Amino acid sequence: MAFKHWPGVRDVRFSTKVGRFLRGARKRRPDLNWDEFLRVAKQFKQDDMGSFPERGFLYQLACDAPENAQVVEIGSWMGASTCFLAAGLKGPEARVYSVDNFQGLSLCGEDVAWYQRHFQKLGTNSTLDIFNANFAALGLSARAEPVVSDSVAAAEKLAAKRGTIDLMFVDGDHSYEGCRADIEAWLPHLRPGGVMAFHDFGSRASGVTQAIFETIKAGRFAEIVGVANTIIAFKV
Ligand SMILES: C[S@@+](CC[C@H](N)C(=O)[O-])C[C@H]1O[C@@H](n2cnc3c(N)ncnc32)[C@H](O)[C@@H]1O
Repeated sequence: MAFKHWPGVRDVRFSTKVGRFLRGARKRRPDLNWDEFLRVAKQFKQDDMGSFPERGFLYQLACDAPENAQVVEIGSWMGASTCFLAAGLKGPEARVYSVDNFQGLSLCGEDVAWYQRHFQKLGTNSTLDIFNANFAALGLSARAEPVVSDSVAAAEKLAAKRGTIDLMFVDGDHSYEGCRADIEAWLPHLRPGGVMAFHDFGSRASGVTQAIFETIKAGRFAEIVGVANTIIAFKV
């Protein structure tokens, strides 16, 4: 095991990094409950899917959503981003519909080998149980609605929600075709003034960046809400 992964070393690195992030976050948004953010972060100490600024931005978007907000996430994996979203919501009817095949099935060639390696390490072919266990550990299960499905098929299943979704986070298939298909299928689900956020804008997943640029150029987003590392969010 590499030195940086030794449990003691990992804990020190975690505390240093999250502490640095929280000092800035508490100054920028003193109105938000950053202790709740920290509680979720501790559950995902080994998370390698997003940085603290990205997790913090998702948490902030969820906190800024209206009471009883309806949220859709495309691509949940083990539920880290989903839990940060769920933790920021308020109201007994608030929900995160977490759309994922939970098997890493994606059109993006680069992702295939990555998922194969991870599933081999996990000794399973689905992350759904891990997703559910993370939500249960944080006491957030009432806000989670896993939708085990391909993304585009799920948009059809949730057709009744068209025009009602307050916040969406797209982090599923990172190919150009996959991201385009997600935008086409899910943009109509947002209510006017709803927020669509994407992971991996400007990252090496160039298909995602291209699909987002095309949507900007076509004038389908009303304004930029914010950027945090590779997450970009737009109001529609
Ligand atoms: C990068 S991971 C998501 C990470 C998660 N959002 C986080 O930050 O913790 C991408 C996920 O998208 C899912 N996925 C990829 N293509 C999909 C598709 N077409 N439909 C549904 N899920 C898909 C994969 O199974 C994987 O769990």
